[in-house]
Amino acid sequence: MHKRTTFSKPKIIVCVPHGATPVEKRAIRQSVLSAGARKAGLIAEPIAAAIGAGMPITDPTGSMVVDVGGGTTEVAVLSLGDIVYARSVRVGGDRMDEAIVNYLRRQHNLLVGETTAERVKTAIGTARMPDDGRGVAMTIRGRDLLNGVPKELEVNQAQIAEALAEPVQQICEAVMVALETTPPDLAADIVDRGVMLTGGGALLGELDLALREQTGLSISVADEALNCVALGTGRALEYEKQLRHVIDYES
Ligand SMILES: Nc1ncnc2c1ncn2[C@@H]1O[C@H](COP(=O)(O)OP(=O)(O)OP(=O)(O)O)[C@@H](O)[C@H]1O
Ligand SMILES: [Mg+2]
Repeated sequence: MHKRTTFSKPKIIVCVPHGATPVEKRAIRQSVLSAGARKAGLIAEPIAAAIGAGMPITDPTGSMVVDVGGGTTEVAVLSLGDIVYARSVRVGGDRMDEAIVNYLRRQHNLLVGETTAERVKTAIGTARMPDDGRGVAMTIRGRDLLNGVPKELEVNQAQIAEALAEPVQQICEAVMVALETTPPDLAADIVDRGVMLTGGGALLGELDLALREQTGLSISVADEALNCVALGTGRALEYEKQLRHVIDYES
């Protein structure tokens, strides 16, 4: 995101993963500067996600943000604009797609690609068993593994919930580990204020409910969950003065 002022080179803020090393950060900053920026600020991805979700990250309270992306889920606890805890687990939307592919192969001898699996996930995917034990159904196409010919199959939400149980469980565990590792006062704030979900994976049907049932915490899904990181990076530039200590111009 950049802010252009007349007759000057733009100031640019770039978002970097929390785990980026000093060498990687320097390389990113250097390439932004050599592209013509006057100043290059870096902001950590969990902070950008939390700002984009509208969380009060500079307050003296603990906030937990869980960004469920494609490749990874990042769980972070923030307080006073700092990252108190952050951990990345290799489970996210891609793993959910794979789980659906594997389920259909094992249970129904049906081979589908990851694109089909992702379509099923976004259309009827759910993290929780439907109350009627079945839920909504849709028809998908794949190849029958027994005779190699195309086949159609109706899948319902109960089946997809079963397929997604493991990745959903892993996301719950990452939240619990974060809560257990967070200093007690901040953990108490999180119990009071709840957890914010961001990222595309946060849009999985009833992921918030499943997390609430399994962790006992209150869970919200951010408005515009898919765009929180970009929105937060933009807002960091807009409110640069108030947020200056979460932006790194130096390292
Ligand atoms: N409605 C939906 N239900 C379930 N999953 C969804 C939905 N919409 C998008 N997704 C999933 O969200 C994921 C992409 O999310 P996002 O854009 O936050 O990831 P990313 O930032 O690219 O990945 P990472 O943070 O791991 O680098 C994909 O796996 C996509 O299938
Ligand atoms: Mg992401």
